[in-house]
Amino acid sequence: MGYLCCNSVFICFFVLLLTGTISSQQPRCPFNYIYHLGDGVADNGNAIRTLPFGPGLPAARLPYGETYPGRPTGRWSDGRLIIDFAATVLGLTRLKPYLDTNTSSNDGVIFAVAGSPVLDRFFYLNKGVTIPNYAAPLNLQHNWFRRYLMNFVCSTPTECAGRLGDSLLLFGDIEGNDIHYPLLQGKSIQDIQTNYVPFVTQTTINTTRELIRAGAKRVIVPGNVPLGCYPYILSEFPSNDPTAYDDLGCLKSVNNLVLFKNNHLRTSLDSLKLEFPNVTILFADYFTTVKTVLRTSLPSFVNNTLLKTCCGIGGTYNYNRRRFCGSLGVPVCSDPSKYIHWDGIHLTQETNSRISQILVQQLLPALSCS
Ligand SMILES: *[C@@H]1O[C@H](CO)[C@@H](O)[C@H](O)[C@H]1NC(C)=O
Ligand SMILES: *[C@@H]1O[C@H](CO)[C@@H](O)[C@H](O)[C@H]1NC(C)=O
Ligand SMILES: *[C@@H]1O[C@H](CO)[C@@H](O)[C@H](O)[C@H]1NC(C)=O
Ligand SMILES: *[C@@H]1O[C@H](CO)[C@@H](O)[C@H](O)[C@H]1NC(C)=O
Repeated sequence: MGYLCCNSVFICFFVLLLTGTISSQQPRCPFNYIYHLGDGVADNGNAIRTLPFGPGLPAARLPYGETYPGRPTGRWSDGRLIIDFAATVLGLTRLKPYLDTNTSSNDGVIFAVAGSPVLDRFFYLNKGVTIPNYAAPLNLQHNWFRRYLMNFVCSTPTECAGRLGDSLLLFGDIEGNDIHYPLLQGKSIQDIQTNYVPFVTQTTINTTRELIRAGAKRVIVPGNVPLGCYPYILSEFPSNDPTAYDDLGCLKSVNNLVLFKNNHLRTSLDSLKLEFPNVTILFADYFTTVKTVLRTSLPSFVNNTLLKTCCGIGGTYNYNRRRFCGSLGVPVCSDPSKYIHWDGIHLTQETNSRISQILVQQLLPALSCS
């Protein structure tokens, strides 16, 4: 919508009346499509469509989707995701999950699949680290993206470049999985820092470079969230040493690894900017943003539910990976909007909304939107 609709003053006025105040403040941006690669943070229905295991995943069942739209859609939350909120601001809300063959609606496509890492299956096989069978590593999502463009959008490289140039490309959050799979399977922080992180960054940068060479003009590459503040990590690495935790109760060692990884990525993105001075390349700081949301929430979390899971059971953080949200007998909190964490790995709609507001405010000006 937005500036597309204004063929006549009358129609524009009518659309504004229908859609209310958001439209009247809607920014005009120099792109008309969104393409999003990533993991469960942005998955709007791909993992549950991955055969044969997808339809059995938790996100295919209630209480996923209970707040919005009232039924499960494959989103890993009680409701909307960060990208859903951001897309509403941009007026590009019809984002189809790539694996949903039944819709043609098109402001863009989401290729993100929950549980996906950046590094491919071959890499993990060599390291003896298992990744979920439904995961779609970055190279696979990149192939899907190319196939999608060739099959449905454009027939020559010039045409495809035109479409890429008319788009906003989003990566990730996706690299969190490249930290948590080895971490939860017994690899040390030092090992991950030395033998995983450099390849994660290189692969992300190489994929971004290929897309820029193919015509992309605007790319947002997010860093990781503070995994050390997430119930699934906190439950796995309990410590009796109070100095292991920061003032919010997050694990310092894990967050320091994430910061190391994010800084590595940020530095590489700075070099990429020098390589392509005419392309808008943005780093989205999910780490600081989630920390800010946690910190500003502190006063309202009287019974220490700040780092607890809304949908879960047992333990300090109300999280048990063997009795995950969506399983039989696992309770849901009565008001997800009072929680940061939804299922221990993913966030509630309310948290997603707050993260989205902060990031949109930070990034929108750099996208030449007015
Ligand atoms: C496809 O979408 C239509 C209209 O929304 C719906 O009636 C139909 O059941 C869907 N088909 C499948 C296979 O999901
Ligand atoms: C990234 O690209 C560079 C230059 O083409 C290559 O040397 C390197 O091996 C690539 N890295 C990965 C992890 O694919
Ligand atoms: C970047 O933009 C400037 C000004 O529009 C143009 O002269 C230059 O050729 C562009 N450079 C590249 C590498 O596209
Ligand atoms: C906090 O926990 C206590 C004891 O379980 C309970 O009585 C009280 O209602 C709780 N307060 C809130 C605001 O949830």
